[in-house]
Amino acid sequence: MAAADPPNAPFVKTASYEAEPHEVGRVLLLYSGGLDTSVMLKWIQDEYEAEVVALTVNLGQPGEDYEVVRGKALDLGALECRVVDARDEFAESYVLPAIKANALYGGGYPLFTALGRPLIAKLAVAAARETGCDTIAHGCTGKGNDQVRIEATVAALAPELRLIAPVRGWQMGREEEIAYAREHGIPVKGGTEAPPYSIDDNLWGRSSEGGPIEDLAEPPREDVFQLVTRPEEAPDEPQLVAIEFERGRPVALDGERLGLVELLERAGELGARHGCGIVDHIEDRIVGLKVRDLYEAPAAALILTAHRELEKLVSTIHQNNFKPGLDRQWAFLAYAGLWQEPLLGDLDAFMDRVNDQVTGAITMKLFKGSATAVARSSPNALYDPALAGFGESGGLFSQTASPGFIELWSLQSRMAHGLRNREEGD
Ligand code: ARG
Repeated sequence: MAAADPPNAPFVKTASYEAEPHEVGRVLLLYSGGLDTSVMLKWIQDEYEAEVVALTVNLGQPGEDYEVVRGKALDLGALECRVVDARDEFAESYVLPAIKANALYGGGYPLFTALGRPLIAKLAVAAARETGCDTIAHGCTGKGNDQVRIEATVAALAPELRLIAPVRGWQMGREEEIAYAREHGIPVKGGTEAPPYSIDDNLWGRSSEGGPIEDLAEPPREDVFQLVTRPEEAPDEPQLVAIEFERGRPVALDGERLGLVELLERAGELGARHGCGIVDHIEDRIVGLKVRDLYEAPAAALILTAHRELEKLVSTIHQNNFKPGLDRQWAFLAYAGLWQEPLLGDLDAFMDRVNDQVTGAITMKLFKGSATAVARSSPNALYDPALAGFGESGGLFSQTASPGFIELWSLQSRMAHGLRNREEGD
């Protein structure tokens, strides 16, 4: 169990939860099957002389073959490779609260990666405990938010476990990793020709970062977008889709009741076909950096927009003024990796309470990149069609009462305005 120090960077322990090399006996590795974590699987065995158990989590990333991933992990020497289908839990306990909070970070990012990380970390803790691991390893770099989300969650849930993040210290670039992979018989998908982006995806969206995206002066290259049809190439005919909600939860598309995972997947397919949900985003990371992200979030483009529309219809003017501030706070905490922060739970209670009224249907029109609400109905709408016409009075509304209202409503403002505009010497 004696471990050699990593070759390039001598280990310096900074956080209490980091594993010293001699403490590492069996590692639970969060394994995606990609280059970084494949190199890591081998590297941990060599550098730490440790055993590795691999864990791969299915959050609905499209087109993944988990048997291939498992086979690869075992070929690279993993004792075991667990594949957990966590799509239901992800949808129910992470995406649904985000929908109720209309969660967008920085005004545009629907948080799919940020929502996935605490669940992945929680599953890693459970798997580490079940398989007798002392340490959890992940493939995040030292420059992103994902390390924060995973480590904060592990440290909160499992103070007895230690963490290692080899990419932070091993000082290999992509070229060196490919060389290491070749040397150790690790298959390299796409070789050096693979697009130079860092991709992360799940059923709520897909992100691309790095490489040419970092040149802010350039529009995105076409090879970035692998999920959403380019709006220019989307169908020439618009499509309408009715999204039904019950207490804030999306329950049906065009009258067909669906489980949450399936509904989100279908909404994603519809949005993707019509070019919806592309976001070119400059983002303030928690670790201080500003980065550019290219997002494809077609399901979120439909569902979040529809949810917000319905919530507006059933909420009062006061609720509608107040909730966006709390929505923003919710999104910030989720973005920032503080999933265990009690304030998030406090906010969830508020979100649930408001969402008790969010029942009804929104019809969305999808057309060449836009997803807009075009029809609305709800038994809880604070809307009386009988009062909507220009000339109508009656019931709860009297137009003749308006001038009295205006006089009192504007009283303080008028007084203050008068005082501030007194002529000198008056
Ligand atoms: N900027 C986004 C976030 O912080 C996306 C991160 C994507 N992660 C990745 N490893 N490529 O949530």
